[in-house]
Amino acid sequence: MSRVVVTGRIPDAAIEKLRAEHEVDAWTGPEAISREELLRRVAGADAIVSLLTERVDAELLDAAGPQLKVVANVAVGYDNIDVPACTERGIVATNTPGVLTEATADIAFGLILMATRRLGEGERLIRSGQPWKWGMFFLLGSSLQGKTLGIVGMGGIGQATARRAKAFGMDVVYQSRSGIDPKIAAELDAQRVDLDELLAVSDVVSLHCPYGPATHHLIGAEQLAAMKNSAFLVNTARGPIVDEDALAAALREGAIAGAGLDVYEHEPRVHPGLLELDNVALLPHLGSATVETRTAMAMLAADNALAVLSGEQPPAAIS
Ligand code: DGY
Repeated sequence: MSRVVVTGRIPDAAIEKLRAEHEVDAWTGPEAISREELLRRVAGADAIVSLLTERVDAELLDAAGPQLKVVANVAVGYDNIDVPACTERGIVATNTPGVLTEATADIAFGLILMATRRLGEGERLIRSGQPWKWGMFFLLGSSLQGKTLGIVGMGGIGQATARRAKAFGMDVVYQSRSGIDPKIAAELDAQRVDLDELLAVSDVVSLHCPYGPATHHLIGAEQLAAMKNSAFLVNTARGPIVDEDALAAALREGAIAGAGLDVYEHEPRVHPGLLELDNVALLPHLGSATVETRTAMAMLAADNALAVLSGEQPPAAIS
């Protein structure tokens, strides 16, 4: 029997699955676990099931000890994990690709609609109690039909967002480092372009690339200036892909028309300049937040941990 430390609350079904085979120490406090408590609890762990809010770095791996075999992140993004530090220590790192693709694409499209059709502004107006009535020029937004969606990062979530865009009558261009299966590109009728062209031609730019040194501030002042004044930026990937100072300035000055964000550069803090603006829709990192998706993520993380603990190949190894 191995010792599994779970760093935050996850669905019961996944805890039960882990408990059927191993001793499980799961943090269930109402607040996120403190760093000190986490460092203390991981000592002697054979597996860590981590949430994206916990930093899994060399210090934590060393605090766990040399018996640690696997870090199973309950997220597809793994910028919270120092993967080279895991590899150096022979620890397998895993994530949860696939199971949150549709839910995240739904939120990306929700934000596209919120930003282009000014849904947040409308809701705030009603709730403010201010008088309003239908008017020919009241809260006019921008139509999506016939417009171009530019997708940065054409993995599963980018492709799922492209499928939704097609259903809304949009054209799709995408930027991708590795390219995609030509059959899928043909099915989606999506054209591969470089980032400069994507920014220049898109009416909506939606970010779906992983975060890392190569994508830190991928969208900054220069890229925002390269977008159309009438265009919108949507980010459901990771906050630091966007330079938020530059985004707040671009939105304030009308360099772009609007934005929709589910993730933040210094999450959970939201840039005060963004909070003041009406032309940005703000969500609290809800990309994968459905009962079904979170359960599937936790079950996949449990399967990953259990496989490594039994000496098998996990379903979703990062490295
Ligand atoms: C992920 O899995 O990386 C998502 O951001 C979680 O919502």
